[in-house]
Amino acid sequence: MNMTFLPVSPESLQQAAQILRNGGLVAFPTETVYGLGADAFNAEALAKIFEVKNRPRFDPLIIHIAALDTLENVADMSLISEEARSKLFSLAEKFWPGPLSIVLPKNEKIPGIATAGLTTAAIRFPAHEAARTLISLAGGAVAAPSANPFGSLSPTRAEHVRDKLGDKIDMILDGGPAQIGVESTVLDITGKSIKILRHGGTPKEEIEKLIGGVEENVFNADSSGGLASPGQLKSHYSPQKPLSVFSREEMLRLPYEADAAYLFFDGSTREAWLEGRPEAGGQDSAVFRTLSEKGLVLEASARLFEILHELEKCRISRIFAQFAPFEGLGAAINDRLSRASI
Ligand code: TXA
Ligand code: MG
Repeated sequence: MNMTFLPVSPESLQQAAQILRNGGLVAFPTETVYGLGADAFNAEALAKIFEVKNRPRFDPLIIHIAALDTLENVADMSLISEEARSKLFSLAEKFWPGPLSIVLPKNEKIPGIATAGLTTAAIRFPAHEAARTLISLAGGAVAAPSANPFGSLSPTRAEHVRDKLGDKIDMILDGGPAQIGVESTVLDITGKSIKILRHGGTPKEEIEKLIGGVEENVFNADSSGGLASPGQLKSHYSPQKPLSVFSREEMLRLPYEADAAYLFFDGSTREAWLEGRPEAGGQDSAVFRTLSEKGLVLEASARLFEILHELEKCRISRIFAQFAPFEGLGAAINDRLSRASI
């Protein structure tokens, strides 16, 4: 297929919106990761997303909107309780636009294929300006999973999309590297208790500060059986190299292996590890990467997939990675590392 690759501009956004209106597929930047968009009301276009990504039909897509007053085009608000409605509006006021997807009863205009047959849809109002402009120009509702083949690393740069899906889609809008670098948090507010289905760009602690305790339903499963959210599949986000993940203490005890990559969370752990291992650093040495020199989780999440993409291409045979602290965005980083691990 002839794919158009353009930087974000008023003209390229118009062109991209036209492609979406005609039932085509456009990869576009968001603040979390790049999305692979199709018109959320066009069942045939939605089917193409599943085909191109090789995504199982039981894995529902996230529906993106660009303004709060269009929420009712994609969600059926008559089906939620007063209590859920008031929580929704507090959440929307605080976190939208931003990296939070909220599961709501879907509007009947959204074809069943978008939600994998579920009566609910995960709705997201992204903060990225180009994403919002594109969504509005394309008619107000764009379904978009991450723009990667199913089960592989999520794309945080337009080049990642080009490398893996470039010959299968109509257009890629290049908006530079993603700011947050891990996907949105998925929150289900349709049940009695509110549940986090996926850790992501909006930390659980922030959500709890606003609406009180939320349950977690993000267990690692090895198959699709009984999952509340199909994105919980264990084998998600895998790099093409075996990856193992360790606490700081475990990491410090790891022996040196020349054909491995060591992915440290912070500079201080790397320096402590390197001390007393003079064999590391020679000509044919192992590869060392650090998510954030100062140990800042936002910087670490923004770089996580980018570094994993790079290590996937390096001549190493395995990756040893260090967990982030389990706070704030650290929960999302650790979730992705666990799922990427063997
Ligand atoms: O940050 C993001 O959310 C990115 C960007 C492009 O916006 N999108 C993204 O989409 O990560 P995707 O398809 O890779 O993840 C969608 C996940 C599903 O795998 C599932 O876990 C959850 O969102 N999901 C979608 N609809 C759902 C529903 N109705 N009920 C429960 N979970 C749902
Ligand atoms: Mg994905």
